[in-house]
Amino acid sequence: MKNNKHWWQKTTIYQIYPRSFKDSNNDGIGDLQGIISKLDYIKEIGFETIWISPFFTSPQQDWGYDVSDYCNIDPDFGELNDVEELIEQAHRREIKVIFDLVLNHTSDQHPWFLESRSSKENPKRDWYIWRDGRGSRPPNNWRSIVGGSGWHHDRGTNQWYYASFLPFQPDLNYRNPEVVHMMFDIAEYWLEKGVDGFRLDIFHTIFKDQQFRNNPVSFILLPHDFMAGYFQKWVYNLNQPETIQLAIDLRKLVDSYSPERMLIGEIYADDATIRKYLGNENDGLNLVFLWKLMDLQPDARYLRNVVSNYETHFSEPITPVYMYGNHDRQRLVSRINGDMRIASLLAMLQFTVRGVPMTYYGEEIGMSEVTIPDSVSKDPVGRRFNWIPQFLLDWLNLYINRDGCRTPMQWDDNEHAGFSAPGATPWLPVNKNYKQVNVEDEQNDRGSLLNVYRDLLRIRRDNTVLQEGSIELLNDSSIADYLLAYTRMLDQEMILVLINFSDSYSTFTNNTKCKNARFQIGGYQYSEEGKILLQPLSGLMLTA
Ligand code: GLC
Repeated sequence: MKNNKHWWQKTTIYQIYPRSFKDSNNDGIGDLQGIISKLDYIKEIGFETIWISPFFTSPQQDWGYDVSDYCNIDPDFGELNDVEELIEQAHRREIKVIFDLVLNHTSDQHPWFLESRSSKENPKRDWYIWRDGRGSRPPNNWRSIVGGSGWHHDRGTNQWYYASFLPFQPDLNYRNPEVVHMMFDIAEYWLEKGVDGFRLDIFHTIFKDQQFRNNPVSFILLPHDFMAGYFQKWVYNLNQPETIQLAIDLRKLVDSYSPERMLIGEIYADDATIRKYLGNENDGLNLVFLWKLMDLQPDARYLRNVVSNYETHFSEPITPVYMYGNHDRQRLVSRINGDMRIASLLAMLQFTVRGVPMTYYGEEIGMSEVTIPDSVSKDPVGRRFNWIPQFLLDWLNLYINRDGCRTPMQWDDNEHAGFSAPGATPWLPVNKNYKQVNVEDEQNDRGSLLNVYRDLLRIRRDNTVLQEGSIELLNDSSIADYLLAYTRMLDQEMILVLINFSDSYSTFTNNTKCKNARFQIGGYQYSEEGKILLQPLSGLMLTA
């Protein structure tokens, strides 16, 4: 059987938000030694790659996404030795390690920015984006992703600097070759230490229009525009062609390393634009995040459309990424009303479609969102918008305060859910449901969500068809509303997957050769010849 895909096309990714994963020194903050102590857990469930959100030196105003030294570790998380040990320990277990590289901006406390801001003549002035205002107004109308003007006035030099995200995250100027060199050197520094690749933070923001033209006005107000754009089309400050070229240049850099490394990009754009970042010759980013499952409806029709859409825009040889959550989005279980059966079916989809599945820490045990009161809120984006009443955010379906999905991992039913030892105060409150929802209990419960993940990951690892095969959606209109059915094919080998998302029985006429159940959630039976009757909310995977 063929086995010719790259590791990053076949892998399974587990995202770790390091502050919240495991606290090894009882200061209430998760750290690198904490991650090392849980590598066996990750290996045992079966994930093959970890992506760790930033742990570099940072004033922690955006919890690490505001870097002040890219080559050192923030004391909250440990030391350089720890990261070297983490890479080594992960590799010993055949787990790949992806770091989070924030190329677009630094912290305003980064020595480069302090220099840049100090005077117009400073050699680092041009490392950031400085412009004169239009009288007392900002240089142009560009908005920051999180609302308000992206321009911030500096009294000392009477110019404005640009920040795509929060004001304390000034954007670097990639039109200055020194910046490109420096950031590529930083990537190489970590590649030489053995990191297997990078997740690229808001990559689509990196280049801006050279002429700084105003964005055109938009009269269509979408909820996202309401939050961020306020009546403008993001034409000149996002998704510039030069950023796509940067993706290709970076890919050349990582491709010069052996064993093979990879880049996975965070890009917000329409499908056709996201596709461009992968390069016309597939010589751009290796993978890109895809967002449609972040707003999912757990019904067969919606999910079929997602798969079909990904297969249209990200067809072979591209590998789509299937993900339900991350550190910026409401937790999956809270979007499906806490229904663990649906969570199991969604996991089944994620691990059996053609794509790279990505799981956000805690998703595998069904961790849910926590409402964090303003008084203890830690998220700078949430705090910026806490004047907007919750009902309005719910109505607009806007998820803004990101604390709720970042609470400590629930390891066991001890105080602080085993995240920190008793006596410590975790940086965010632990979900009150930790006595019912935790790793230890689920490890001991054969029917738990965690065991569904473990089984699915094992089946996928043992099965080349699931890792490499093509996918075909079975679009019979009689089943379309309730049953998601597809086959995976490699050479002559076939797998059939049936997922009944409805709460009633459904029948599938099986015309394939696949008759042997390999995995199931809930029950099924053969009715008359060739017909399979699936229980409400059930899933079945059959091989020939
Ligand atoms: C990305 C990160 C988010 C961060 C922002 C600014 O969207 O996922 O957490 O706040 O970029 O770096």
